[in-house]
Amino acid sequence: MQKMRKFTSKIIIFALFSFIFITMFKKYMSSRSALLKSKQFNAKKPGMKYILQWTNHENIPFAHMGLGQTGFIGRECEYTNCYVSADASELGSVTAYDVVMFAGPELIYDDLSLPKERLPYQKYVFGSTESPGNYPLCIHNFNSYFNWTWTYKLDSDVRWGYIVVKDAKGNIVGPNKNMHWIPWKDMDPVDETYKLYLRGKRKAVAWFVSNCRSRSRREDYVIHLREELQENYSLDVDVYGECGSNVCPRDKEKECAAMLSKDYYFYLSFENSFSEDYVTEKLLHALQNDAVPIVYGGANYSRFLPDRSYLNARDMGVPQLAELIYSLIQEPSAYAEFFRWRKYYSYHRTTKLKETNEYCKMCEALNNEELVKNHSTIFSFSEFWEVYETC
Ligand SMILES: *[C@@H]1O[C@H](CO)[C@@H](O)[C@H](O)[C@H]1NC(C)=O
Ligand SMILES: *[C@@H]1O[C@H](CO)[C@@H](O)[C@H](O)[C@H]1NC(C)=O
Ligand SMILES: *[C@@H]1O[C@H](CO)[C@@H](O)[C@H](O)[C@H]1NC(C)=O
Ligand SMILES: *[C@@H]1O[C@H](CO)[C@@H](O)[C@H](O)[C@H]1NC(C)=O
Repeated sequence: MQKMRKFTSKIIIFALFSFIFITMFKKYMSSRSALLKSKQFNAKKPGMKYILQWTNHENIPFAHMGLGQTGFIGRECEYTNCYVSADASELGSVTAYDVVMFAGPELIYDDLSLPKERLPYQKYVFGSTESPGNYPLCIHNFNSYFNWTWTYKLDSDVRWGYIVVKDAKGNIVGPNKNMHWIPWKDMDPVDETYKLYLRGKRKAVAWFVSNCRSRSRREDYVIHLREELQENYSLDVDVYGECGSNVCPRDKEKECAAMLSKDYYFYLSFENSFSEDYVTEKLLHALQNDAVPIVYGGANYSRFLPDRSYLNARDMGVPQLAELIYSLIQEPSAYAEFFRWRKYYSYHRTTKLKETNEYCKMCEALNNEELVKNHSTIFSFSEFWEVYETC
């Protein structure tokens, strides 16, 4: 009897433990499947190209990309099957992404953190619309690190530039390292109606500027040019914006452009830093508004502009430039010849055209299987990004 009772209580204890164990196991399993379900929510869709912005999404230029597919759908790109994520945890880990992107201006800091794991099929992309002159990459060595570059430089894998040149038929022809411009002498002279329009101009030089202190010290050049023009030729440089005394409000862009077109002979397309191929929309202010650009930058401008369509301030001293400005204003027919290109070429913002939009271009590149499969490395990144010159 005694034995029997002992046996029963053992069974009861065993059953009790089993029950507790089974309940806990069930609970564990159900929470596990919930976890799996939440993971599945962010599982990769077949055919989608996943881009991770490793550096901060809030800062430019990454902020403009948009998150998810919105940037590509909103821009009505030909390819919209690219997905931008600002946080690696969205897919679980950095190695889950096809592309990992780094914004140039954020790689300059010494406390920079980089991904710890990397898979060979992933493309690491260096993206920047800013110049190394303004954001010198001097601390870290990125040689043999990136697979692609996405910048304004003309030898980038994907272009993220400012300007596009079309020919008269509407084909995109530039800018490029080797341009085959129609020689100036083979272009027709400017027609009389346009010449008459140009004769309405009354003011010498305009400059719209908001950043008053630049690496290129362009402001010093302008001060000298202004003195020279005022004292020797009674001409002026009108400086609009925060750095000058002339006013044309930012919200009146159209009116300011119309004023430039109607009144001014020249416009200062001065870049804020000297870097190869760094030519921004400042050039378009002149070209799209019937003013001759006076350029000042690190580019070889023959990659961007036809012969005799501009003056290059860096090629000459201030007295020489002032004299040239003066003499061209005195000679309307010589001045008008700077506009021969208008019959043969047109200038646009890359972002304004679907076929050159840089965000669409990136998604298009990711859909080019051959290009993506091809293992490529930017071995001498420091040469590409002028690291030694800017440190
Ligand atoms: C600028 O580019 C043109 C055409 O590509 C070339 O002929 C010229 O030598 C270049 N100039 C400089 C200073 O590199
Ligand atoms: C005006 O021109 C003369 C000679 O042409 C030159 O010596 C002088 O420096 C110029 N004035 C200014 C303010 O630069
Ligand atoms: C990307 O670059 C790394 C580092 O050079 C290289 O090991 C890898 O094969 C490259 N991958 C692709 C897909 O280009
Ligand atoms: C593949 O990459 C190499 C450089 O790594 C390049 O020379 C070649 O043109 C690329 N091929 C294609 C199809 O993009």
